[in-house]
Amino acid sequence: MKIKFLAVAVGIAMCGASAILHAEGNPRAGKDKAAACNSCHGDNGNSMAPNFPKLAQQHASYLAKQLQAFKSGGRNDPIMSPMALPLSEEDMADIAAYYATQKISGNSMPVLPPPDEDEDEDEQAAAPVKSKSVPELIAQGSNLYRNGDRQREVSACIACHGPFGEGNLPAAFPALRSQHADYLIKALTDFKTGARGNTPENMMHMIAQKMTDEEIRAVAYHISMMK
Ligand code: HEC
Ligand code: HEC
Repeated sequence: MKIKFLAVAVGIAMCGASAILHAEGNPRAGKDKAAACNSCHGDNGNSMAPNFPKLAQQHASYLAKQLQAFKSGGRNDPIMSPMALPLSEEDMADIAAYYATQKISGNSMPVLPPPDEDEDEDEQAAAPVKSKSVPELIAQGSNLYRNGDRQREVSACIACHGPFGEGNLPAAFPALRSQHADYLIKALTDFKTGARGNTPENMMHMIAQKMTDEEIRAVAYHISMMK
């Protein structure tokens, strides 16, 4: 009896939480309020700089949650955190509603970073395997996205982020498709190291800590090309 009651109480508490997250914003008001954000996130939420995430077509629930986290300090970034400080709950809901209605742009093929200049030349010559090409990495990333790695318990991304990288609105799982590869690599690396993790369950930390740097790059390249 007691357990049943507790489950109901938790259920009600969760409904309450999601009601706050899904407070309907006004996209028209959001457009005006987002003027301050365009210098980095681009007109219509399609940023040009690869380290500034695109916000276009992202779920309003997820955007509002991230803005709350930047404001409360649950998520930290020296550039972004100060931007969220002056925003009210209503501002966040309006801005989130605006970006959610915009269409995300596609990306061109990712380009491998130049080899590390600090690396010893002899070491490079002695390296037994050549690093993978971009198409090889994309194929590897596509496989990981769809199937995960059962042996090493890396969950398949598709389970939460969807077959097209469309995410999940009610669960506030972010859409990922066509995001900048550089930003995706940073986000996954931050989850891996624990620098980012504002969900109590910390699902992404559990997943990313089992991924190698090569897998992070591979899956980021794949996602950046998803439409
Ligand atoms: C000076 C540049 C700059 C400005 C201006 C700026 N941002 Fe950001 N924003 C960033 C950076 C950089 C990140 C990525 C932070 C990280 O790596 O964790 C970010 C991340 C975000 C995210 C998280 C996206 C995701 O996919 O998780 C949201 C939401 C966001 N910004 C909204 C806004 C809003 C709304 C405004 C205007 C009120 C704004 N930003 C203004 C630089 C900026
Ligand atoms: C169990 C569900 C789940 C699975 C499986 C999962 N994710 Fe996530 N992912 C989440 C949640 C929840 C968040 C939002 C975390 C937050 O609020 O900071 C997230 C956030 C992200 C982000 C940050 C997006 C942004 O705009 O900043 C990236 C990138 C990401 N996931 C990639 C992946 C990849 C790659 C995989 C597969 C290797 C994966 N996820 C598997 C639930 C999941």
